[in-house]
Amino acid sequence: MSDTAKLILGDKTYNLPIITGTENEKAIDITKLRTETSFITLDNGFANTGATESSITFIDGEKSILRYRGIPIEQVAEHSTFVETAYLLIYNHLPNKCELEVFSKSFTEQAMIHEDMKNFFNGYPSGGHPMSILASMVCSLSAYYPELVKPNPSKEEIDLCVVELLSKVRTICAFSYKKSIGEPFIYPRHDLRYVSNFLNMLFSSSNRYYDINPIIVDTLEVLFILHADHEQNCSTSTCRLVGSSWANLFASVSAAICALWGPLHGGANQSVIEMLQSIIADGGDLKKYINKAKDRNDPFRLMGFGHRVYKNYDPRARIIKKKAYEVFNKLGINDPLLDLAVKLEEQVLKDEYFIERKLYPNVDFYSGLIYQAIGIPTKMFPVMFAIGRLPGWIAHWVEMRENPKSRIGRPRQIYIGNNETNYTPIGNR
Ligand code: ACO
Repeated sequence: MSDTAKLILGDKTYNLPIITGTENEKAIDITKLRTETSFITLDNGFANTGATESSITFIDGEKSILRYRGIPIEQVAEHSTFVETAYLLIYNHLPNKCELEVFSKSFTEQAMIHEDMKNFFNGYPSGGHPMSILASMVCSLSAYYPELVKPNPSKEEIDLCVVELLSKVRTICAFSYKKSIGEPFIYPRHDLRYVSNFLNMLFSSSNRYYDINPIIVDTLEVLFILHADHEQNCSTSTCRLVGSSWANLFASVSAAICALWGPLHGGANQSVIEMLQSIIADGGDLKKYINKAKDRNDPFRLMGFGHRVYKNYDPRARIIKKKAYEVFNKLGINDPLLDLAVKLEEQVLKDEYFIERKLYPNVDFYSGLIYQAIGIPTKMFPVMFAIGRLPGWIAHWVEMRENPKSRIGRPRQIYIGNNETNYTPIGNR
């Protein structure tokens, strides 16, 4: 194939460079399109637009492939830990023993949040959604740690900011939960590792000792790993876009958390459980809900199905489904919602509407069931997703800031409003 694409506009032909990625993905480089032709491209939802070149994550949605820094997700999920995966995504290689030890140790050192920040939690009404608390608190880190938010940080300053954020987010998430149920905060412990420490802050209380269950720790490690990155999804693109103005890492991640919250993205795990519960409450008639999802005049969608990129089974959903059975068996749980979810999946995968549109269960379809089984309350589900996705947001922010070709993100538009219209005074001045 030629290394240029030809664009014919009227009687002029323009040669546009073709870019090829390491997995042979092709793109037409339109960087100079507007300058040379005065045309722009229009791409609703950016479904065909590459915003950047990136070396972090590779997805082939047709073949169900997901790789972090080249390593298949199945291998990472089976062998790695969340902390090691975070290192892999951010620093572009698996850490050796010493690097991993230093990285893990710095999480323990940075786990506390500024004591004054605790007062900030009190400003929230109890019952407030923990995602709103999380987003504000992460942005507030910029105010409490001003030394970390210089517009042009050095490599060392970025490294420090990265561990501060990864470690403190876990504490903030646990505190947000405690706030939302009106219980006193439990501080991070020096002797516990990342996931165990989080579980302890979540479930211990001043008069109740939480017995850390290794099955639950292992399950959460896997769930966090599976969520750790997914290239240019809505929240990661938000993080990059905000960071492209040289906004600091805390502010950029706070924006990503808000983007993640939406039910079409990371809020879907909460919506799946609510959907399954309402199907049961309504008599368990799956056909009725499948038909509702297919009805163009009904806004209802089957939550946990469909994906912009995967047009075949989401590889993360396959791992999570297996994990769900494993955890339920080991913990001796019999959950009618899991049975309903499996039946729903079976019916959907046979239905012409879903087959035609290549709609399969996504990562969020089974994750909520596991969170529920291990005692995580429904409104914390998107928060769990946020903890998992944090290394990805950070890796992309760092990649963008280190790339000398990065420019501020600023899409164009096609204006379809009024032509020039005179102001008509109504006499208020
Ligand atoms: N239920 C019913 N129909 C659906 C669903 C669904 N869950 N998802 C897509 N469709 C239909 C659409 O109505 C559309 O039909 P049409 O061609 O007749 O108009 C077609 O499939 C294509 O759907 P789009 O909305 O154009 O697909 P898009 O790529 O824009 O959206 C998305 C992807 C947002 C994930 C969508 O599938 C959806 O809303 N799913 C439910 C929410 C969800 O599970 N989100 C989590 C995504 S994974 C993640 O963020 C971690």
